Amino acid sequence: MDNIFSMPVIQTEDLTKIYRNGFHAVTKLSLRVEEGDIFGFLGPNGAGKTTTIRMLDGLLTATSGTALIAGKDIRENPEEIKRIIGVVPESHGYYFSMTPFEYLEYFASLFGTASSDSGYLDDLLEKVGLADKKNVPIGQFSRGMKQRLGIAKALVNRPRIIFLDEPTLGLDPKGQHEIQQMLLDINCREKITVFITSHLLKDIEVMCNKVCIIKNGCLLEHGSIPYLQEKYMKPFEDE
Ligand SMILES: Nc1ncnc2c1ncn2[C@@H]1O[C@H](COP(=O)(O)OP(=O)(O)O)[C@@H](O)[C@H]1O
Ligand SMILES: [Mg+2]
Repeated sequence: MDNIFSMPVIQTEDLTKIYRNGFHAVTKLSLRVEEGDIFGFLGPNGAGKTTTIRMLDGLLTATSGTALIAGKDIRENPEEIKRIIGVVPESHGYYFSMTPFEYLEYFASLFGTASSDSGYLDDLLEKVGLADKKNVPIGQFSRGMKQRLGIAKALVNRPRIIFLDEPTLGLDPKGQHEIQQMLLDINCREKITVFITSHLLKDIEVMCNKVCIIKNGCLLEHGSIPYLQEKYMKPFEDE
């Protein structure tokens, strides 16, 4: 149940994206994510999940509506917001000859913070189960390992919120389970709010305390997992 006294850490009001070709990808999306939530943003392919995440993390400008991250407007404070969020995009641009440590060091240096704190970067690699792969070139990594490195990268600036766009896509059940446990652990130990998209309810039902469903750019519903399971899982799984 929402706590009426707590300020949402993400709040959108009528957030809308119309692409240049006139396509309405996201229409009047209003949602609320509380600090500490593991929030599932669920919808079939083409629903508008990636478009929404990109608007929230500042990669795409909204056509209309507002979004506040930690009380700051995404239009007015994009740089400030970038410092308090971490993003695991749908696909990563990896530098295959780099080692995971060099990769994290590079992103840490972009934030100008943890670059000299190699202990923190070692901790991150440990957290995502890659400590023993510290000096192995990323080119030799499996998809699951790359995805875990992507999570470590998203944590480099010690964010309050992390956004993950379909992080379990294309992973085998073991790889999916590892990512799910990792996110639960990060959320529980470090109180980081997690915003995660998926097109399959079964991928996120084990983690999320709240779920919203988007289809054709419109918010269909939000609610508890069992209720949504009953009402929507079947049609989604068929798509
Ligand atoms: N740059 C773009 N120009 C026009 N349409 C786009 C663009 N990017 C995405 N779309 C369309 O917007 C809709 C939502 O896409 P997206 O946000 O990627 O959905 P999802 O992540 O839920 O699969 C899709 O129909 C997609 O084809
Ligand atoms: Mg997508």
